[in-house]
Amino acid sequence: MKVLILGGTSEASALAKALSEHDMPAVFSYAGRVAAPKPQPLPTRVGGFGGVAGLAAFLMEQRITHLVDATHPFAEQMSRHALAAAERCGVAVIALSRPPWAPALGDRWQRVSGIEAAVAALYGPSQRILLAIGRMHLAAFAARPQHHYVLRLVDRPEAPPPLPQHRLTIDRGPFTLEGDLALLQAHGIERIVAKNAGGQGAVSKLTAARHLGLPVVMIERPALPRRREVHSVKAVLAWLAHGAAPGVERGV
Ligand SMILES: NC(=O)c1ccc[n+]([C@@H]2O[C@H](COP(=O)([O-])OP(=O)(O)OC[C@H]3O[C@@H](n4cnc5c(N)ncnc54)[C@H](OP(=O)(O)O)[C@@H]3O)[C@@H](O)[C@H]2O)c1
Repeated sequence: MKVLILGGTSEASALAKALSEHDMPAVFSYAGRVAAPKPQPLPTRVGGFGGVAGLAAFLMEQRITHLVDATHPFAEQMSRHALAAAERCGVAVIALSRPPWAPALGDRWQRVSGIEAAVAALYGPSQRILLAIGRMHLAAFAARPQHHYVLRLVDRPEAPPPLPQHRLTIDRGPFTLEGDLALLQAHGIERIVAKNAGGQGAVSKLTAARHLGLPVVMIERPALPRRREVHSVKAVLAWLAHGAAPGVERGV
């Protein structure tokens, strides 16, 4: 048995810790998006595989038997590639993910289907907006240049984002309610744009928005093909222990 973990999330790190404690042969993979990724207690590789063909070649070369897709719920392409490559190679595959957030009493969410819909939702007069969506799709918001954006990013970008009015706040989670209330109030934020990532590390901005009565444009997750998916490290360990069948297990 040899496991490949596709990482970039706290769930992936928790699984790496558990596999290392169980002395299970495993490799950890990062896309290489952040300057200083968290060190892992497993052999680690960094960078894209080169599409489905590249990942399939890696699975074969490394004699991987089990693939755990523990990427972020918005890492759609990697998740699709994982399913395709595992099917091609007869490798058992499972997704380890966080359940999405659901609105609670007092929340003022406008749920949208993707980045373009989030941009469309920001019509109207100038507002002060916390754009908490990472760095990949910031350019799309140049279509709404009337707003003043506060961007929360893990690393300082090499080039300034193409948004005429913006401020950067460089920080990585987990975030706290106190910290996020202070951030929203210090910048006079009137609206938040967020991705429905789920989990604890970034939920405090939503709790803070509820406290302050702020509206949230919530970008819902991309749809993926049906796949075996669990929400805990324990469930992945059980899957590994109980002889996961190779290939994509559909209809679960
Ligand atoms: N999207 C988000 O909001 C978000 C938030 C937090 C963390 N992350 C993490 O950041 C990474 C990149 O996310 P993304 O949204 O840019 O992904 P993506 O759009 O689904 O993937 C784009 C390409 O990046 C490479 N890649 C992605 N994850 C990889 C991994 N773990 N190991 C090796 N290569 C990987 C693959 O390149 P090849 O085709 O060349 O193999 C993939 O085709 C992921 O690991 C994800 O868990 C993403």
